[in-house]
Amino acid sequence: MDVSEAIATRRSVRGFLDRPVDPALLRGIVEKAARAPSGGNLQPWHIYVVGGDELTRLKEIMAQRITEVPRGEEMEYDIYPKTLGEPYASRRFQVGEDMYGRIGIPREDRDARRRWFARNFMFFGAPVALFCYVSRTMGPPQWSDLGMYLENVMLLLREAGLDSCPQECWAMYPKTIGAFLDAPDAQMLFTGMAIGWKDPDDPANTLHAKRVPLAEFAEFRGI
Ligand SMILES: Cc1cc2nc3c(=O)[nH]c(=O)nc-3n(C[C@H](O)[C@H](O)[C@H](O)COP(=O)(O)O)c2cc1C
Repeated sequence: MDVSEAIATRRSVRGFLDRPVDPALLRGIVEKAARAPSGGNLQPWHIYVVGGDELTRLKEIMAQRITEVPRGEEMEYDIYPKTLGEPYASRRFQVGEDMYGRIGIPREDRDARRRWFARNFMFFGAPVALFCYVSRTMGPPQWSDLGMYLENVMLLLREAGLDSCPQECWAMYPKTIGAFLDAPDAQMLFTGMAIGWKDPDDPANTLHAKRVPLAEFAEFRGI
């Protein structure tokens, strides 16, 4: 697989098989991904990978937390701007409609949509979870470094035949996850990620999120 194929086949997968992932392979990917560039070579990512009995324990904790505090704990950062303007609001709306269309949940059925969203907190059945933290002292440039690291992880997973779903919804439960991982207070949870083998029969995995055409986001001058 070359880079183009890894990029083209990476999708956010929301349904995984109950099939384990080789721990040595995971370690290798988490290490290799750190070849990502970062401003000043700060390498600001701090990664936790959770699987096996530990993941079972976390899923049990979360099953309880999402009933106790369904709207989440106090957020440590805004996932989206408080007022999401255009064209971003329409893009977000579109991918939501496309997703719920695939799994046949109409807009009016808010309860079903909420229940489906809650599958995030079971990692969509994935056997491995990754959490990415960053020091609270870091700002937007270092947060962008996290993105480069995480994309490397996702592409390397593709190379190994694996899939993933980045999940910033975990920012809704920073206290629970921080306590579970025993993460230092000086670190802030940016995102989680579900990792595993894609379930080809899960209708959610038929979604192919659209992208806007090149001319809408890039301008070329002098070339
Ligand atoms: C940082 C980040 C956080 C995300 N958080 C979630 C999430 O919490 N739950 C989810 O289902 N998808 C999540 N996504 C997936 C996006 O919805 C997805 O990347 C986008 O719709 C494009 O689809 P694609 O990844 O299949 O190309 C996240 C993506 C990124 C990059």
